[in-house]
Amino acid sequence: MTAPVPVAPDPLDVERIKKDFPILDREVRGRRLVYLDSANTSQKPRAVIESIANYYERTNANVHRGTYLIAEEATAAFEGARAKVARFIGARSTREVVFAKNATEALNLVAKAWGRAHLRAGDPVVITELEHHANIVPWHQLVDEVGIELRWIPVGRDGHLDLTDLDRLVDGARVVSFAAMSNVLGTITPVERLVAAAHGAGAIAVVDASQYVPHLPTAVRDWGADFVAFTGHKMCGPTGIGVLWGTEAMLDATPPFLTGGEMILNVTKEGFTPNELPWKFEAGTPPIAEAVGLGAAVDYLEALGMEAVRTHEVSLTAYALRSLTDRFGDELSIHGPAEPAERGGVLSFSYGDVHPHDLTQVFDERGVCVRAGHHCAKPLMRELGVAATARASLYVYNDEADVDALGDAIGAAADFFRS
Ligand SMILES: Cc1ncc(COP(=O)(O)O)c(C=O)c1O
Repeated sequence: MTAPVPVAPDPLDVERIKKDFPILDREVRGRRLVYLDSANTSQKPRAVIESIANYYERTNANVHRGTYLIAEEATAAFEGARAKVARFIGARSTREVVFAKNATEALNLVAKAWGRAHLRAGDPVVITELEHHANIVPWHQLVDEVGIELRWIPVGRDGHLDLTDLDRLVDGARVVSFAAMSNVLGTITPVERLVAAAHGAGAIAVVDASQYVPHLPTAVRDWGADFVAFTGHKMCGPTGIGVLWGTEAMLDATPPFLTGGEMILNVTKEGFTPNELPWKFEAGTPPIAEAVGLGAAVDYLEALGMEAVRTHEVSLTAYALRSLTDRFGDELSIHGPAEPAERGGVLSFSYGDVHPHDLTQVFDERGVCVRAGHHCAKPLMRELGVAATARASLYVYNDEADVDALGDAIGAAADFFRS
């Protein structure tokens, strides 16, 4: 038996929270739905679903161009959502908050629009081995198109970034771009230290906060980064909307990414004048209902309290690490930092030599939803020496019973593949 880890009492009333999420009421394969895939996408509370239905039933009109009441209401709802997001992440103003399709598009905006304008052949761009493909592939494209040099901060065996060579890696760099939390290991990276190293070397700092913003209190101003990207659907919001936060200076120095309607102040036969921030980056009809839904998600998370969300997740992660390790011993290897306070509620694991897809198929028969695969982090998989893992991920609506259901599912898979 491992020694119990002292953790704070859970401040969330998960039994009540579960009732806010209609999907958790349904059965799958004759069993209670046990949803453990929130790092992939979170479930949506009724308040978010209703805000979207209500928008379409009462307010639907295009934004920024109507001269009638419901169009003004739609614009107010859309821009009101931006104000909620700005407050939620501690932005200085709504001018810093750009709506994109998702985090992937937000990161592409940085690499393609800022990067193409400011990077030249041989410029070093530093990323880490624990990145999601969304923060790798756009830079790979700049290797091909511009000739930038891509450098990698390694991941140590403990699941943390190995910063031994940080000074050398950032020397001469123009960009340091990294995840605030790994979607595979749950590792929380030292954001402020990496931002300081980037700035000290004269580079800009880009933070992929897709796994961080949904789970921890976020104050982008404290981080001091230049750009921060995240995605709405992992934080109780709808799909189809993400956010790029940037300082006004950086956004001003970035040319428009996509072009067309909405993002202009003027168009003539000779050319165009881009719109003001943030609309300069929002070409075409924006994701209006999605923004309204994201605003409702922010309201929901703020009502729970992000400190409470974090405390809940640390305590549940501690329970999961302890109970699963006690139950399965060395057969089960859980990747990532051992200390719950240094990680999020993302549990990537392997069980013996059973393929993760076989594991999750048995889980599925028991109504337990867990993702198997490379989690869009193939370079990290290679460093871990595995082709794939099973990944269970926790959120506000999960409790110890869900972790126990996962344990039972692992036990069932172990029995099945042993026999
Ligand atoms: C760390 C990280 N970055 C970026 C993304 C991409 O998010 P999206 O698919 O919403 O663009 C994900 C999604 O899994 C992620 O976990």
